[in-house]
Amino acid sequence: MAETTIEIRDNGPYLVKGSYTLVDAEGKAFETKDTIALCRCGHSATKPFCDGAHKREGFASAPRAEG
Ligand code: FES
Repeated sequence: MAETTIEIRDNGPYLVKGSYTLVDAEGKAFETKDTIALCRCGHSATKPFCDGAHKREGFASAPRAEG
């Protein structure tokens, strides 16, 4: 069975690794790679992908799972 991992990077994007399909609101698929970085800060010029703008904007978020 395919496995997908979504890793929350401290002060940065969501890293999506594994087998997945990323679609827009109309169900059209984006071209993707084995690992992609999705913008979490809202400042990327290439949404839904991260372009590094989170660093320039000083985005700060480092959530931790309990347990
Ligand atoms: S998380 Fe990297 S540009 Fe938004």
